[in-house]
Amino acid sequence: MCGIVGYVGEREAGKILVSGLRKLEYRGYDSAGIAMIVDGAIDVRRAVGKLDNLQAVLDADPLLGTTGIGHTRWATHGRPSEQNAHPHRAGDVVVIHNGIIENYVALREALVAAGAEIASETDTEVISHLIDAELRKGGDILTATQAAIARLDGSFAICVMSAKEPGRLITAKNSTPVVVGLGEGENFVASDVPALLDYTRDVVFLEDGEMADLTAGSVEVMDFHGNRRDRKPRRITWDPVTAQKGGYKHFLLKEIHEQPQSIIDTTRGRIAPETGEVLLPELEPLLAGIKQIERVVIVACGTAWHAGLVGKFIIERFARIPTEVDYGSEFRYRDPLIGPETLMIVVSQSGETADTLAAVEEARGKGAKVLAICNVVESSIARKADAVVYTHAGPEISVASTKAFTTQLTAFYLIGLELGAKSGRLDPALEAECIDALVQLPNLIGEALKSEEQIIRTARMMAPAQDVLYLARGINYPIALEGALKLKEISYIHAEGYPAGEMKHGPIALIDENVPVVVLLPNDEVYGKTLSNLKEVESRGGKIVAITDYADAELTKISESIITVPRTSTSLMPVLLTIPLQLLAYYVAVERGTDVDQPRNLAKSVTVE
Ligand code: G6P
Repeated sequence: MCGIVGYVGEREAGKILVSGLRKLEYRGYDSAGIAMIVDGAIDVRRAVGKLDNLQAVLDADPLLGTTGIGHTRWATHGRPSEQNAHPHRAGDVVVIHNGIIENYVALREALVAAGAEIASETDTEVISHLIDAELRKGGDILTATQAAIARLDGSFAICVMSAKEPGRLITAKNSTPVVVGLGEGENFVASDVPALLDYTRDVVFLEDGEMADLTAGSVEVMDFHGNRRDRKPRRITWDPVTAQKGGYKHFLLKEIHEQPQSIIDTTRGRIAPETGEVLLPELEPLLAGIKQIERVVIVACGTAWHAGLVGKFIIERFARIPTEVDYGSEFRYRDPLIGPETLMIVVSQSGETADTLAAVEEARGKGAKVLAICNVVESSIARKADAVVYTHAGPEISVASTKAFTTQLTAFYLIGLELGAKSGRLDPALEAECIDALVQLPNLIGEALKSEEQIIRTARMMAPAQDVLYLARGINYPIALEGALKLKEISYIHAEGYPAGEMKHGPIALIDENVPVVVLLPNDEVYGKTLSNLKEVESRGGKIVAITDYADAELTKISESIITVPRTSTSLMPVLLTIPLQLLAYYVAVERGTDVDQPRNLAKSVTVE
């Protein structure tokens, strides 16, 4: 997965491209590059690593022009190097690409046999050579790109320029996102809307199989065969300030603190103020198409998968429908038993995760209806699903997911309550309790965020650790997994989430005075049982960090640190217990001096398998 940008107009393209790439760095940051046509010839600047390195190259050796393309890379084929950095040029053609060309080896062999000199290890470079070869046969950059696309298998968002046709860009989309920005006397291409917001709010999201031909004064959208598509622009109302750090040291901290607001945004208009009823009109057409939901299958990846694990508890508890949860990358390869009586719920912040998207296709192919929980409006998964509940969390820039996760949980509460009410299986007292808790949730998260001082002290104690164990039970067990994942992702400490009762079947062997054990201990029906597990930790010298809404004398005695959260309905405790875990991971990472917002080897949106 990578970020692509393109500009055609009257202004200096370099600044626009680099500022667009900065907004897309979350998509990958192994290398970056831009290309322009200068005096009738293609000129390229590239650098390994983050965008600042490219900026330094540009400062030393500027590139001036009014049409250009830019790229920020997350390596798939070919290691991160300048040679493998995009843009890739062949003859008069230069290309940037996000995606994977699956038949690139065969294409490369054919190109080499025909005399092409391939300079990189990437799959992308074959695209520029194919287009260049087509151009040599005659035609223009549009027809040459169409002819090249016809030979590509795989996923691509590309943007193409030719030295022979300055002032023209061609972009095309298959399975990875492209958004075209419409300006006055200038037009834009990007992988994602934030790259465009400083310049325009009028955009066209290309569909799979579509391409666009851009000049400063025109944009034409068509299919890969050149048949015109009449696409109405959409006006984007996002505030670009929401994509800035807003005074916080890191996007991650800003996004953690945004959670009260993002949950307000998720629930806005979805709980009737008078009746307290859940309003999810998004589900109506979907539910009308299913006679009876006999089973729910939740599919997601990464943090969204953890949201799915909580979702299972919610749907089984509220709607009494048997629910299973699978990874996107596993689901599609196990010939899943799924059909018209099954509701699939997919969860994806970006709506672009390749494995989750493929799972949607698999399920739809077998006749299942698909409900998506997505953050990014009009994303690929959102467009493929039969219905979407958007989380409305706003852009999440930090690679480690925080507000996207808690808004996904919130969406599950809304969906669970709605399915439960429609099926008549939801106990009205539980319904009223949970709706009330949902309404209170933003304030309670605000309370939970106040434990920061205690969390900072705890983080200092945990920072030198090599291993950390996270324990919880029941509906909070997925939160232990999520807490461990957050710590791994941003502090690079090995961490594992475990059901507290399972600890004695293995992880207990790891425990000594160097292993902090973070336990989620709400005052519920298994409080006492988890406390017994903690005594086993204490007797082996493990340092206990307890996150709880209730600390009795015993817990206080055995814990190194106690972090309290407010009390709410048992069903909603997972959201409140998440907050300290996010802050704990953040402050441990800060203590260890890691790159919090862009941790090594990770990317925000994984659009390859
Ligand atoms: C990547 C991100 C994770 C995210 C996962 C799924 O691994 O780094 O934070 O949870 O993808 O992403 P999605 O956009 O589908 O929620």
